[in-house]
Amino acid sequence: MKSKKLKLGIIGGGPNSWIGHVHRIAARFDDKYILVAGVFSRNSKKSISFGKSLGIDPQRCYSNYSEMADKENKLRNKIDVVSIMTPPGSHQKIAEKFIDKNIHIISDKPFAANLRQAKSLFKKIKSNNKIKYALTHNYSAYPMVREAKTLVGKGKIGKIEYVNFEYIQDWSDGKKFNSINAKKLFDWKLDPKIVGISTVLNELGSHGYHLAMYISGLKAKKVFADISQTSKKIKMDNNAQILIEFEKGAKGMFWTSTNTKGGVYGLRIRVFGTKGSMEWIQNEPGYLRLNPSKGAVKILERGFHDAKVSKNFSRIKYGHPEGYLDAFSNIYKEFAESLLSNRSKKNFYPNEYEGLETAKFINACKISSKNKSWVKI
Ligand SMILES: NC(=O)c1ccc[n+]([C@@H]2O[C@H](COP(=O)([O-])OP(=O)(O)OC[C@H]3O[C@@H](n4cnc5c(N)ncnc54)[C@H](O)[C@@H]3O)[C@@H](O)[C@H]2O)c1
Repeated sequence: MKSKKLKLGIIGGGPNSWIGHVHRIAARFDDKYILVAGVFSRNSKKSISFGKSLGIDPQRCYSNYSEMADKENKLRNKIDVVSIMTPPGSHQKIAEKFIDKNIHIISDKPFAANLRQAKSLFKKIKSNNKIKYALTHNYSAYPMVREAKTLVGKGKIGKIEYVNFEYIQDWSDGKKFNSINAKKLFDWKLDPKIVGISTVLNELGSHGYHLAMYISGLKAKKVFADISQTSKKIKMDNNAQILIEFEKGAKGMFWTSTNTKGGVYGLRIRVFGTKGSMEWIQNEPGYLRLNPSKGAVKILERGFHDAKVSKNFSRIKYGHPEGYLDAFSNIYKEFAESLLSNRSKKNFYPNEYEGLETAKFINACKISSKNKSWVKI
């Protein structure tokens, strides 16, 4: 593998953004990228001053993504990869602009704001074989999640029969909502043009469904969803309960919510097969519980004895905790390795196929909830 660093540009993630610093740390974690260009805010003054504060050459702190794509494309040392961490409504158009310049993409989720955008973006990615695409469904990058995926693939728990998962949060900040404080608390998450087809499903549900697909290896075939909105005045949807018929006869239940008071330990998944089950909880990320239908319960620990796959995605020895940032960085690391080498090794990082599947799932859930019926995907 060449030892060069990839030149990285960033769109979004400005001062006070939620996910910006996570991407910047993830890009530095394994010394595989160097941040050389960016647009960090819609406000060009703020963007440029923030870019300079990160040590970026002022000539490469741009006012908007379009200018950045055009100007970078003319440079001899142009960026290799752009990371997109703006709100969902702009993921598609920004990615497409850079794909046209043969620049690889790392994008935060959701893949796109709605199914129409997702189909267009997928087509665009497939139309250019010079670029690769990674989607930061970061929960799938925890070492013990990858261990779980591998064990399921090897048939450790048999044929999958049930997948139960939840991703719940409490966005209330301990407050009661009214139309005035809602604007402050939820900001762009209230605006369908920015957040997309569904707030709860694009922001949380896309991660949950991705995780279920990732570990079980199964896609949903049909859904029956019940989605509610915050109030008559606050139209943001905030809770979804979904019955799922997966491929190969498996059944699933998914609960995702922004409205569970005190619901802060909210990402967990249980997968049941003909030979046993497994359970993973994000707040105990270093462990995977394996329950055979016969015999003793086993707790596998990251990087330890029987958890060999997880070792490949760990940096710190077992017995010491790793967490969110480490997992997020696994996506950046593996993506860089796949760009810098000609390896044909199977990648674990989430890609455009998984992105399009989550968009199809979310779209079907919205139709199902409206029509109160099962909807095929
Ligand atoms: N993977 C995860 O765990 C995770 C966690 C939180 C958020 N997210 C995702 O990250 C994205 C951003 O979420 P956030 O919570 O950080 O939002 P945010 O509102 O906190 O930050 C968004 C940033 O993008 C900038 N921005 C918006 N439009 C822009 C544009 N056209 N050009 C340049 N900059 C622009 C804003 O100025 C702001 O700095 C969303 O898609 C969200 O779903 C992912």
